[in-house]
Amino acid sequence: MNRANILVVFLTILALNTSAQTKKPVSAEEAKMNTFINNLLAKMTVDEKIGQLNLPSSGDITTGQANSSDIAKKIKDGQVGGLFNIKGVEKIKAVQKVAVENSRMKIPLLFGMDVIHGYNTVFPIPLGMSCTWDMAAVQKSARVAAIEASASGINWTFSPMVDISRDPRWGRISEGSGEDAYLGSQIAKAMVRGYQGKLQANNEILACVKHYALYGAAEGGRDYNTTDMSKVRMYNEYLPPYKAAVDAGAASIMASFNEVDGIPATGSKWLMTEVLRNQWGFKGFVVTDYTGIPEMIAHGMGDLQTVSALALNAGVDMDMVGEGFLGTLKKSLSEKKVTLQQIDNACRLILQAKYKLGLFADPYKFCDAQRAEKEVFSPENRQIAREVSAESFVLLKNDNNILPLKKTGTIALIGPLADNTANMYGTWSVAALFDKSVTVLQGLKNALGNDAKILTAHGSNFLADSAMEHRYVNIHNPTYVRDPRSEADLIKEALKVAEKSDVIVATIGEGSEFTGESSSVTDIQIPETQKNLLKALAKTGKPIVLVLFTGRPLALKWENENIPAILNVWFPGSEAGNSIADVLFGNVNPSGKLSTTFPQNVGQVPLYYAHKNTGRPLADGKWFEKFRSNYLDVSNDPLFPFGYGLSYTSFSYSDIKLSSNTLTKGKSITASVTLTNTGKYDGKEVVQLYTRDLVGSITRPVKELKGFQKISLKAGESKQISFTISENDLKFYNSDLKFVAEPGDFKLFIGTNSRDVKETSFTLK
Ligand code: BGC
Repeated sequence: MNRANILVVFLTILALNTSAQTKKPVSAEEAKMNTFINNLLAKMTVDEKIGQLNLPSSGDITTGQANSSDIAKKIKDGQVGGLFNIKGVEKIKAVQKVAVENSRMKIPLLFGMDVIHGYNTVFPIPLGMSCTWDMAAVQKSARVAAIEASASGINWTFSPMVDISRDPRWGRISEGSGEDAYLGSQIAKAMVRGYQGKLQANNEILACVKHYALYGAAEGGRDYNTTDMSKVRMYNEYLPPYKAAVDAGAASIMASFNEVDGIPATGSKWLMTEVLRNQWGFKGFVVTDYTGIPEMIAHGMGDLQTVSALALNAGVDMDMVGEGFLGTLKKSLSEKKVTLQQIDNACRLILQAKYKLGLFADPYKFCDAQRAEKEVFSPENRQIAREVSAESFVLLKNDNNILPLKKTGTIALIGPLADNTANMYGTWSVAALFDKSVTVLQGLKNALGNDAKILTAHGSNFLADSAMEHRYVNIHNPTYVRDPRSEADLIKEALKVAEKSDVIVATIGEGSEFTGESSSVTDIQIPETQKNLLKALAKTGKPIVLVLFTGRPLALKWENENIPAILNVWFPGSEAGNSIADVLFGNVNPSGKLSTTFPQNVGQVPLYYAHKNTGRPLADGKWFEKFRSNYLDVSNDPLFPFGYGLSYTSFSYSDIKLSSNTLTKGKSITASVTLTNTGKYDGKEVVQLYTRDLVGSITRPVKELKGFQKISLKAGESKQISFTISENDLKFYNSDLKFVAEPGDFKLFIGTNSRDVKETSFTLK
């Protein structure tokens, strides 16, 4: 043996020893699973292994082009590992039967679906949900979704979507939790826990974190577009929520459509293996997004065989719809472009997921039709949805305390969303019962009985141009009927109704399909025809409340200047009308806070609170100074900052008390304020903690959210609210991508939103 060889042997022994020392001992349960899967793999042909990596769409729900014509045959031939977009417990049971009775290996299937914000009982869209800042509510909503979906045969949901987005033009901003890595991470964890629980009961299902990675940073807000950012930005601002979901035990992760650092995520070994598995220790399986593999042909990465091998080599395990794995992996194996071990690894991870779900023990575990009858769209679930919806609303403005409304007199309910069953849910409502949503009109009637009179008028269509409107509505749910009358006639009728009333409730904004996948825009204002209606209504001089439906932050400059009360309800879900009435009449005091900045206009985008200071910052309170970082035509301020949201009551904050001005490594300090409910109503306040690292080895944001607490206080009540801060809370990824806290001076802020805060400072020693 020559010297070099001796060195190799020595290093190998060393490596084996170190890995043996660092490897966690395998539990008895895990050992049992490994034996079971090893036995199974030993009996499978290469074709059957590749078959497990194939995930076709059944086409019950349109989320793209369904691909597999003869799915039953493919299942029999062992060419399918899971199926998605199939709806109905009996149907799923029948398909599972084909897999476990008619295929050679009798391996049960995974059944996936985009259960994004509820199943039959629909919760607010995720962006709305994130505005609750209530992690118990978020987790509960995911739990209910899992209960209902699993009672309907589904054992895998393509949620949570944790893509950070700072661009309201991007239609999919509605599907995420907004702009902030810290808030997004808390929500990611709560959702995973809600869906998966302990992955034991027949209502605990696999979560799938998506879209890994950086999908929300699409250039120009155009869906599927290129992303490009520095690694420090990725690690500090965009990757944390995916990591948080992985840390919480998410069983699967979905590759995103976009490229990262010049390589489509689906083909990125750096993302799928280096970061995900080596750095984060992910143990679950990776699935592509819809046709993510063949889309790499258009990205310019080669033909189907090349891109399929690229994906497997990168660390992707399952091919959604693309059938690149199914059609080409065997050839790539014979040409040594992939290895059998890679195919085995991917197959093992899919089989493990099935094993952990308990499908080998009982393939019909999630096919109990009796459960579906009792546990889906139940009064209890709807009640939870009603409460969570009301908590997601953000009161943007309430001049002269117009809200809450009195339950007397005459109310004019005007606008395209007043009695609109089709548009209460928002995007991704694949199992919504469209005829069962509570409209605003119905909710108001339920709340008022005979106490007050409601007059209604359609007021306007969503958009003036019918051909254009068609592009925005009725793609997934063609039940919205356009009013054929002219804009002038609709406004005329609305004014007549308004004149007979004491107060106007204008239900205006976006329809469900204005946001979501493939729904990006370049103008983020309320459509002109609806604005014309609002302008006409405002001229009547009657008190007016804008109940705003939207899936994205909108530019509401005119509305803010001219409409006294604005309640942003996002898309509230099944109980829309009831929860809106709860808040309008004061049964529930609004407590939602924005998880995304609302800009003054689209030109300010991207606008977010955790920005950098730059070398030429604008002085506080200034609009414009020459040679400073600002615009000529509009101030740098948002219209409504991150964390903002009003209540019917008011809260005051005392100055901050610190237990010490010095924080030493390994110790912690406490920051406290006294919060007082100074108004007339009981209410909830989200107390927010931010820090600023004043000097760093890389530039640091002007503020970073580090904690929050949602506090209930009776009118007049005070409470001391404390946060503990340790070195860990101050860590960030430096330019070597090391997660460190750097000694030095910090500012600490506590307040009601990212702008209105109390301030103090401390030093990390
Ligand atoms: C979306 C994913 C979704 C998948 C399956 C894709 O078009 O990007 O979010 O999970 O379809 O429906």
